[in-house]
Amino acid sequence: MLEAGRLLFARPCEFFYASQAITQLPEAKGPEVAFCGRSNVGKSSLLNALTGQKALARVSVTPGRTRQLNFFACDEGRLTLVDMPGYGYAKASKLLKEDWQGLMFDFLRGRTTLRRVLLLMDARVETKPADRAAIDLLSDAAVAFQLVITKADDVKPAQLDKRIAEVEEIVKKRTAAHPLILITSSESGQGIPELRAELAALALPPT
Ligand code: GTP
Ligand code: MG
Repeated sequence: MLEAGRLLFARPCEFFYASQAITQLPEAKGPEVAFCGRSNVGKSSLLNALTGQKALARVSVTPGRTRQLNFFACDEGRLTLVDMPGYGYAKASKLLKEDWQGLMFDFLRGRTTLRRVLLLMDARVETKPADRAAIDLLSDAAVAFQLVITKADDVKPAQLDKRIAEVEEIVKKRTAAHPLILITSSESGQGIPELRAELAALALPPT
């Protein structure tokens, strides 16, 4: 599967659609995987690391940069990746927050082609109430999700172990959660081949 993952992401991934409203989504065709998590957790960076394309998804200097659902087709649509706006961004206006979150949650609940949600958790930050709310929502809606720890390069091994244990505890109680937690760093490349392999297993077969 590592080789299948490498091959999938050796092929071009292209941005093809941005959606600001649930009524304006691209046609639901091939399998999709959404990148979800708190603002600044590293969603866009992870997408770039996976595809090996540094500027595919826009990385934020300030949190709350991604304000729409951005769709990327990998290897001509064998798999579609969806970069989502982050939640839990304290400085966003109330109206903006409701807009983003409404769109995000409607999408997560209603998209028939959505095969899995990657829920990203920062290695450096403890689980926040907004993360627990997202996990509850995914669980209640029975959306298959998998936890991915990001920025593993930026913590000491003991801190990483503690974070992994914390996240494992959350996942254990959730039947919609994938049992495998992925430890990644977009900076060092840790866990990227493994995540590619996970995603290749969800993609359409190569033509
Ligand atoms: P929003 O779109 O605002 O929700 O943010 P996001 O989740 O897409 O995060 P983004 O990828 O824009 O990254 C946010 C910040 O974290 C940037 O300054 C990145 O450089 C940094 N960052 C992302 N991934 C890593 C990583 O693996 N290691 C380290 N050390 N920093 C990272
Ligand atoms: Mg982003």
